[in-house]
Amino acid sequence: MLPGRHSVKTRASQTGSSSYGKLRLSLWFFFRMLKLRHTRPLFVGGTRYCFQHPDHASRCVKVLRPDRTGAARKLLRQDFKRHLPARFLDDQRKEINAYRELLTRPSEALWRHVPRYHGTEETDMGIGIVTQLMRNDDGSWPQNLQSLLPQGMTEELSAGIGEFKRAVKDLRILSRDLLPHNIIAVRERGSYRVMLVDGIGNAELIPISTWWQFFADRKTDRKLRRFEQRCALLLPTPSS
Ligand SMILES: Nc1ncnc2c1ncn2[C@@H]1O[C@H](COP(=O)(O)OP(=O)(O)OP(=O)(O)O)[C@@H](O)[C@H]1O
Ligand SMILES: [Mg+2]
Repeated sequence: MLPGRHSVKTRASQTGSSSYGKLRLSLWFFFRMLKLRHTRPLFVGGTRYCFQHPDHASRCVKVLRPDRTGAARKLLRQDFKRHLPARFLDDQRKEINAYRELLTRPSEALWRHVPRYHGTEETDMGIGIVTQLMRNDDGSWPQNLQSLLPQGMTEELSAGIGEFKRAVKDLRILSRDLLPHNIIAVRERGSYRVMLVDGIGNAELIPISTWWQFFADRKTDRKLRRFEQRCALLLPTPSS
């Protein structure tokens, strides 16, 4: 049976209203989305671009570089990881999960050593992680340990690194390898506040360190020992 005039009209108006709805939704997303693509990042890491948040000067937005997405990295892998779903190689996703876990902790103290997390936002370069943007007390950008340590160790820096290591252990801040270029030293009235800005979370494929504290503690000790060795290697050699 052919549809009557009325039913055709209803279907047509339904289709019209649903595509109108979709258009409105896409426009809403487009206008709400942070526009970063044509702005200059503050920092370019090996994996991500770090932009100042367009609406909050004291926050940064980190997005994956197009060549470092899970799918892009999967293509480059030669080992078994090329057979895993792309999400297993997406560092951004892992970090979001890690931050969400930190948010469930009652401790305020951990935000002294990890930039405060402000959630995620859609951007024209994919999902962005929004965190506190750190500055030294004179307004300059903090250096990471990779660039600071070759200038030599000072009492203040050593105290800051010591406080950071204790916090990683006591507050159980799970991390991938503690690499000096992922740790910044923020100058605060004559002292240093040392913070982990990247590599937060658990890198294990099977996250036993998230499930069992015993494994987590052992792993953290190992990571801290390696971190000390990496720092020592960066220090200038004393001239004899
Ligand atoms: N919240 C922050 N406040 C101030 N500086 C920051 C912050 N986050 C990152 N930085 C600076 O930007 C650099 C790059 O950031 P990040 O380590 O997050 O990028 P990445 O691409 O993920 O790094 P990687 O090269 O380890 O993959 C850091 O080394 C640090 O100097
Ligand atoms: Mg990094």
